[in-house]
Amino acid sequence: MARRILYPARTISGAASVPGDKSISHRYALLAALAEGTSQIRNFSPAEDCRRTLACLQRLGVRIVQQDATVNIVGAGPAGLRPSWRRLDAGNSGTTARLLAGVLAAHSFVSVVDGDRSLRRRPMRRVIEPLERMGARITAREGDFLPMEIAGAPLRGIDYELPVPSAQVKSAVLLAGLLADGITTVTETVRTRDHTELALAEFGAELERGERTIRLLGRQRLQARQLSVPGDLSSAVFLLAAALVLPGSSLTLHGVGLNPTRTAVLDVLAGMGAPMRISGLTVQHGELAGDISIESAGLSGGKIAGPHVAQMIDELPVLAALGPYTEQGIEIRDARELRVKESDRIAVLAENLRRMGARVEEFPDGLRVDGRTRLHGAELDPAGDHRMAMACAVAALGAEGESRLRDPGCVAVSFPNFFELLDQLTTR
Ligand code: S3P
Repeated sequence: MARRILYPARTISGAASVPGDKSISHRYALLAALAEGTSQIRNFSPAEDCRRTLACLQRLGVRIVQQDATVNIVGAGPAGLRPSWRRLDAGNSGTTARLLAGVLAAHSFVSVVDGDRSLRRRPMRRVIEPLERMGARITAREGDFLPMEIAGAPLRGIDYELPVPSAQVKSAVLLAGLLADGITTVTETVRTRDHTELALAEFGAELERGERTIRLLGRQRLQARQLSVPGDLSSAVFLLAAALVLPGSSLTLHGVGLNPTRTAVLDVLAGMGAPMRISGLTVQHGELAGDISIESAGLSGGKIAGPHVAQMIDELPVLAALGPYTEQGIEIRDARELRVKESDRIAVLAENLRRMGARVEEFPDGLRVDGRTRLHGAELDPAGDHRMAMACAVAALGAEGESRLRDPGCVAVSFPNFFELLDQLTTR
């Protein structure tokens, strides 16, 4: 298995852009496939996860031409996908599997969705249950895991209250609702990322949005669009965190997505004392974006808990990795969901941070990482999880001595040029 040496660095400085947002890219691709006409999506995410969504759509008969970061998708029209005799392989991508399930539930043929070892361990019952209520028949291994066989059918709209705060589940129900008869209403207790709602409106669907409720009339037709994807904040955060680990750093990231349902992590960092400045705000297709500048600073640390952890679920790993570099340490609670991500992120973080000398206490729903701890180089194993690899890399930047990271290629799942950018921007 390949390994990468992680050298400690002195500073991270300069300006860069991060790849297009993964969540938004999935949604634009799926909606373009259901629209009428040819859509063009610029700055499409180079993430392996998004490549899986495109490959699945191609298997379902959608014509897609990609040149670098520009993707042209010829819409198949509402419920216009064709059956695939081969399994639809979502790879490592929960978003591909769950959102596609919503779309396939409304297509009157049988599809099989599968994924890699990690995705096969992740719960699917959460999408199966509402989609069956809408009229699809879905069988999954042990009722909860991939591979799942989806027998699509004409669906009817439902009123659905999300039992877990999950944008993937919300989106699966909304995509099925778009193709169903009648009205679908989704209610969430915590507002999760709303890219699906914004993208539906952009493709011409009418939907009513309340504080926590989305109401969508089914059988609406979508129109092809010319779109551009902002940079991925969840990727940018790893570089911002690097600036907080390395004194004397000063970094600007251009064109980063700043959708308010995604920026809770920036509020937490600012609250801990990170000096950040946002400039050049724009809104494209309903999505806010801008440049983020950050300077290094001592962080206070503190406790992150409560319902809003769902709004920074993907950024909790890097916040934990900052723990040793803070005054009071960082405690994360109410984040049990981390255990069913690409890996058991609580266990994998605890293990790797401890290998570097951090003091970590693990809880069923989170972890506490003590502050003011000098880390040392170690053998690190991200368990094949992209965000674990990048969180380890950030922690290792300020450690004494080199670390060796197993399977560094797994970062391609969301941020293929992460190590290149880090090498370009850091000084040793
Ligand atoms: C995503 C939603 C989140 C997030 C994932 C991407 C999305 O998952 O962790 O990386 O694009 O909708 P959940 O919906 O399971 O919380």
